[in-house]
Formats: sequence, structure tokens, C-alpha cells
Amino acid sequence: MGILTGGGDCPGLNAVIRAVVIAGHVRYHYETIGYLDGWRGVLERRSRPLDPVESAGLLAMGGTVLGTSRTNPFAQERGGDRVVENLASARVDALIAIGGDDTLGVAHRLGAFGVSVVGVPKTIDNDLSGTEVTFGFQTAVQTATEAIDRLGTTAESHHRVIVCEVMGRNAGWIAAEAGIAGGAAEILVPEVPFDLDAVCAKLTARHQRGQFFSIVVVAEGALPADPALAESATSARSGASADAFGHARLGGIGDWLAGEVERRTGYEARATTLGHIQRGGTPTAYDRVLATRFGVAAVEAVHDGDFGMMVALRSCDIVRVSLQEAVGNPKTVDPALLEVAAPFLG
Ligand code: F6P
Repeated sequence: MGILTGGGDCPGLNAVIRAVVIAGHVRYHYETIGYLDGWRGVLERRSRPLDPVESAGLLAMGGTVLGTSRTNPFAQERGGDRVVENLASARVDALIAIGGDDTLGVAHRLGAFGVSVVGVPKTIDNDLSGTEVTFGFQTAVQTATEAIDRLGTTAESHHRVIVCEVMGRNAGWIAAEAGIAGGAAEILVPEVPFDLDAVCAKLTARHQRGQFFSIVVVAEGALPADPALAESATSARSGASADAFGHARLGGIGDWLAGEVERRTGYEARATTLGHIQRGGTPTAYDRVLATRFGVAAVEAVHDGDFGMMVALRSCDIVRVSLQEAVGNPKTVDPALLEVAAPFLG
């Protein structure tokens, strides 16, 4: 087998690698090689053998020992054909691709080139369709919640509004869950463009009720509904060029929002961007278990010859869904979750 990790890193990647290598070896005497830096390693024929004994220590380790990249083979000359040729020359019979929408989108397209591929769903954003949860998400929510708890004590001491910007490009899952878990006064997600006047009015009412501090959790992809304000917020972003999959680099809405809130309400406001702190470090116990279940299930899919599929979590069970179903259609926040949050906001 070959295995690769693509896209943004995520707590639990190493736990999946460990599960694939050891379960493949113990159950079926499979040998596994790891491609370095995602699809780039396949294109450049860079890989290394993965030994079951050495892999044993990977369970709790953050990041990915294989490295990752946002390389898109289909953005390169003969990219798909080169992947096929290089897998064949390395005598890789089956490829396990661990990634989010971009990495698994490539995996899906490679099916048409005859590549035998199984996907494992990864992203802290939890925005991949076909699975109820991706591994890494729960760890990110835990990290963000701990940060919100800490921001709460300093916000209360200084009677401030603190805007906490979390990751979430298309979907506000981290903002919604960490916002609920951290008792935020406001939760702003990409799925629901926000009314800045209404946000400020709610914060004012809250302070007038005697709650002299507020935590506003905002996903990096959230924007105001008003087109002029949305343009102003967008121009506050980093401005870095798009990646190989066409995604702009986000980040900056928190600072912009804190400035607007302070100007409009008169309350002192600060912003904290959690950024890559949410992606780093050791996975929670939940994510270690989920990653292990996914890894073992991916080996079973390989053994069954069930390619073009992604392992997924549904109703607490590990199932297989087609890659086609999983990619190209981000899973946005369930409105019911936002309704649960609503009574506690403001
Ligand atoms: O992997 C998803 C993600 O964490 C997004 O939430 C975020 O927008 C993006 O990656 C950041 O990517 P990079 O690390 O390349 O800046």
C-alpha cells in the first residue's frame, strides 16, 4: 500500500498512519510506503518505507511524519498520468489518501485513471460531506474552547469585548461548537452573513444588563451581510495569493470586527486569532480512537478491493461512502446547532 497526507495538517494524521501500517501488517502482511508531502511526493517519487514497529509510537503525535502540501496534480502537466506511472513503478497496488475535500477530490479523479484509492476524511474544519465527523475536528474544538475560557477571564477583568477568530473557511463548525462550549455572547459563521448593527445592539444590551464583558467567536470565513461592510472586511484579509486549489488565504475578520465593535459601541475591544494553534499538537482521546477506526477500516476496504470509497462515521458506525458523494460539496453547519446556541447569545 501507499499512504499520503494532503492539505492542512490535523491532529490524528499520525494515528491513522500508525493504524494503517500496523493493521495492514498484522492482518494481511501488507507492506506500506509513505509518500512525502502529499500528492507532491507521488509526483516527485519521494517516499519511504513505513515499519510497523517504528509506527507504534505515532498514536499521540501531532502533525504528520510524512509531511503535507497543497499540491494539486491536476494543476500540472500530465499530472494524473504521472501519478499512475509513479505508483506503478513503486509497485503500489492500493493508495490510501488522507485528506479533506481537495486531497480526496484528486483521489476521486484518479479513479478514472485506474488508480485504486481509498480515502480517509481529515480536516479540523469538519466540512467534508459523507461523514458526520472528520478526525481532528474534536481536538480543534477542545483547543478553541480552552482558549475561549481563558479569554473570558481577562475580558471580564477588563470589561472588554474580545473577538476570538477561529478557523473555518466555508463552514463554521469550530465556531459553533467552541462558541457553545465556551459560552460565547455571539457566534458568527460563514453560512449566515451577519448584521453588524444587530451584533453591536446585542452586545450593548448585554452590557446594559450588567454583563460587562463579551466573547464574540467568529469563523475566519464569516462576513457581514452588508455588501460595503463585506468589502471592507474582505480587504482586511491577508491578501496572499490563492493556493493550487484556488483557495484564498483567510484571516483578519477578527481584527476588523473588534475595531468596528469598539467604534460603534464605545466598549474597549480586542481580537485574538487562534490560527494554527488549532491545528497543532496531540489529538484528543476521541480523535485518537476515530483516527484508529478510520485507519483500520481503510485497510479493510483495500483488502476487499472496494476502491473509490471513503471511510466515514455515521450513527457511531464506520461505513464506506463513495468519494464522489464526499467531495465537491462542503458540509455546512447544521442550522439546528445554531438554534441550540441561540438562547445563550447576547
Ligand atoms: O485545513 C483547513 C484550514 O485549517 C482552514 O481552516 C484554513 O483556512 C486553512 O487550512 C489554512 O491553511 P494554511 O495552513 O495553508 O494557511
